Amino acid sequence: MLLRINQEKCQGHNRCHAIAPELVNIDDYGNAHEREDGVVPPGLEVKARLAAANCPEFAIDITE
Ligand code: F3S
Repeated sequence: MLLRINQEKCQGHNRCHAIAPELVNIDDYGNAHEREDGVVPPGLEVKARLAAANCPEFAIDITE
């Protein structure tokens, strides 16, 4: 599974980081960036989907 954050859509709501800090870093401007090139480690798939579902800007894409 891959998690990608669209930088043009991200507005820094930070819900993704609150839900899945293992998968998302926040930069100095408050915008989110995927960790580890977006590769979701085994066991964190549910968190990845929750983070994507809770982004109000629809900035997070999940691919299997
Ligand atoms: Fe950005 Fe959405 Fe996260 S706006 S900080 S990707 S909740």
